[in-house]
Amino acid sequence: MELCVPLILFPISLPAFLAKDVGHASVVVDGTVATAHIDNNFVCATLDWWNHEKCDYNHCPWGSASVLNLNLSRPLLAKSIQAFNQLRIRIGGSLQDQVLYGVEDLKYPCHPFRKQKGGLFGFSTGCLPMSRWDELNHFFSKTRPLVTFSLNALSGRHHKGAGVWVGDWDSSNAYDFINYTVSKGYQINSWELDMIMKRYEHLSCRLFCFCFTYILVYLGVGNELCGNGVEARVGAEQYGKDMMKLKQIVNQLYNDSHIKPAIVRPGGFYDQKWFARLLQVSGSGVVNVVTQHLYNLGPGVDPKLMQMILDQCYLDHISGTFDNLAATVKQHGPWASIWVGESGGAYNSGECI
Ligand SMILES: *[C@@H]1O[C@H](CO)[C@@H](O)[C@H](O)[C@H]1NC(C)=O
Ligand SMILES: *[C@@H]1O[C@H](CO)[C@@H](O)[C@H](O)[C@H]1NC(C)=O
Ligand SMILES: *[C@@H]1O[C@H](CO)[C@@H](O)[C@H](O)[C@H]1NC(C)=O
Repeated sequence: MELCVPLILFPISLPAFLAKDVGHASVVVDGTVATAHIDNNFVCATLDWWNHEKCDYNHCPWGSASVLNLNLSRPLLAKSIQAFNQLRIRIGGSLQDQVLYGVEDLKYPCHPFRKQKGGLFGFSTGCLPMSRWDELNHFFSKTRPLVTFSLNALSGRHHKGAGVWVGDWDSSNAYDFINYTVSKGYQINSWELDMIMKRYEHLSCRLFCFCFTYILVYLGVGNELCGNGVEARVGAEQYGKDMMKLKQIVNQLYNDSHIKPAIVRPGGFYDQKWFARLLQVSGSGVVNVVTQHLYNLGPGVDPKLMQMILDQCYLDHISGTFDNLAATVKQHGPWASIWVGESGGAYNSGECI
């Protein structure tokens, strides 16, 4: 559903609390033209896989905020989510492409993430036990967010070197997981297949969401496998094929449902050629939502971070990327919506001010 951003004409006086010399300013907003349309449920948060071992610059901010161990009994957490009246929650983040789903047929032991030298993002694979998935869904049925789940998109591929991953997506574990989810009647709004890359080291969000995070849901990271990739890269042709596979799985497993979840992707940083190719290869109507990740403030450790946040000219730079993305989608995939799939302002767990 589209919502027209209400623009109201109002002159206001801004007291400059922080300055010694108090100044006054009038701000006039032209309410005659809507500059953008946004979704009703545009407020979102990520539940991430990072655990207490995830550290940036000697800070290890994630504590027990992981999908695997976040305390779902905390009353404030539930209330905060309910207060948004359909907060969109994405379950995902950098480690999502190393997640196994602990379904009955899983051929490996189901263990949590551990730090591991040489592992992608410095971590081992991890596993989501179905008992925890049950708990999460029990929590969601109580708090009623719209859930987007980011699937393990590196499954079955092998690392060719230099961050490039090749081979078809092995969807068998994801298939069993989605089947389990459907058979339990758990409501998933959208399934995302996306992957990560190493242009930016470890991505995670802290800046805008840091305090918010601890009050609400631990907002998170991404797994950006498109374009240049953050840690891993997969070609657009391959990705397009895998998207069609996911679409088939969703069509098959949700055959009896009136409402089919949306297919979301690619969840990465904008790269014109890659995004265009993906939409061309996967074809009409396959990708329902094109996502882009946004970390336009750079790394959380940047000493100029505060200046950048306060500089609207700097912040405005990103609008060019949105214009380009919108043009690419209009040309190659006009059926798709565009979302910011993940953002925190500053990456590498942001910065605590
Ligand atoms: C989870 O939160 C509840 C409610 O605040 C608390 O009673 C419980 O001890 C917490 N559990 C853990 C493992 O911290
Ligand atoms: C899907 O899940 C149901 C319920 O657990 C099970 O009976 C069925 O065999 C599964 N289907 C497939 C194709 O795995
Ligand atoms: C969906 O169900 C119908 C009728 O039960 C069946 O004919 C069709 O092949 C199914 N489609 C898929 C994609 O499984």
